[in-house]
Amino acid sequence: MSYPKSPLVTAIEEPPVAEAASWLQPDLFGADKPLINVSQAVPGYGPAPELCDHLASMVTQEDTAFYTHVEGIPALRDALARDTAVSYDGGVTPSDVMITAGCNQAFYIAMMALAVSGSSVILPSPWYFNHRMVLDMMGIEIIPLPCRPDNGMVPDPSEVEALIRADTRAIVLVTPNNPTGAIYPRDTIAQFLDVANRHGIALIMDETYRDFLPSDYGTPHDTYTDPGWRDSGLIHLYSFSKVFSLTGYRAGAVVADPTFICEAAKVMDCLAICAPHIGQLAALYGLQHLGDWRAEKRSLMAGRIDAFQSAMEHSNSGYRIRSIGAYFAYMEHPYQDQDSKQVAIRLAREHNLSCMPGSMFGPDQDRMLRFAFANVETALTGDIAARLAEDVM
Ligand SMILES: Cc1ncc(COP(=O)(O)O)c(C=O)c1O
Repeated sequence: MSYPKSPLVTAIEEPPVAEAASWLQPDLFGADKPLINVSQAVPGYGPAPELCDHLASMVTQEDTAFYTHVEGIPALRDALARDTAVSYDGGVTPSDVMITAGCNQAFYIAMMALAVSGSSVILPSPWYFNHRMVLDMMGIEIIPLPCRPDNGMVPDPSEVEALIRADTRAIVLVTPNNPTGAIYPRDTIAQFLDVANRHGIALIMDETYRDFLPSDYGTPHDTYTDPGWRDSGLIHLYSFSKVFSLTGYRAGAVVADPTFICEAAKVMDCLAICAPHIGQLAALYGLQHLGDWRAEKRSLMAGRIDAFQSAMEHSNSGYRIRSIGAYFAYMEHPYQDQDSKQVAIRLAREHNLSCMPGSMFGPDQDRMLRFAFANVETALTGDIAARLAEDVM
């Protein structure tokens, strides 16, 4: 039977991670050249064993099988409010928090509550492809705000004002950024918030990777230190996926003014009624008991970044790191006459190295490749540099 489908959905391509996986031919390589997969941003280690033990005990309790409040388990809302308040040195309360089934759902809910088809949203480019896909599916026009290598891939707040239109509903920032790894300075974030505030639009901050900022970085931004932050337009999105290695349990959050949380809860009620109960229990356990584990993983990831930077400094492959941080390096390839997909396919087929071409993240990214360090051991980072050097021989 044939029936019409939404043209907004059919126009969207297959998810990019699957396409990158289809280029691999790992059986062609021997044990001396194992697959190095820097394409997907998924931790290569499992959750803490004590968290798994705790969940095993929770699944035997009848209550775990049932819905929670739409906004989430009160204890988790409270724990995340406290954690956010400590991490940002500001005032956040449980009524500012709604728990979601991951940060992707948090973004979807935020957009549903903010914008209608035909309105527009400003996305720094390159962008996180799921953000672009959500906006396309919802019929919301994307206004790109280009980021440049000579500015460390940090968007320039002085360029955003001219892009805001009467139908613009939000500016979206991701920091630390996917795909570039760029960490947006506090001052830059404050300037974006100021512009959003003056124009009466929202500033959505996806901070999925904030637990992987350098350990001496301090607060990711100063927004919450202002007691009036709830009127500033800030909508903060968070993920428990990477920090506690829980990608399959689906836990994330929206943190915003309670009047926005009230609208977001209507969307959540229709979408899923609540985030998975077991995932919420996992997140709660993480916040309550895994502070040291979180710090250890942060330093593990920082070690991978340092090792890769140092390997690239000693390599003369012509590949260049243009920005790096948290989980990602954004690399410029040396070929003027080849697009990023050609280069990524060759690295996969000839060097057993899987990365994502820049073209998957937005316009004008054909000189760029994204490397995600989440699932490569530190010892392999030198091999990445060596395989890039082989590629230009
Ligand atoms: C910027 C960004 N936001 C959201 C997500 C999705 O997070 P979650 O697993 O919490 O839905 C990812 C995952 O790669 C991401 O990179």
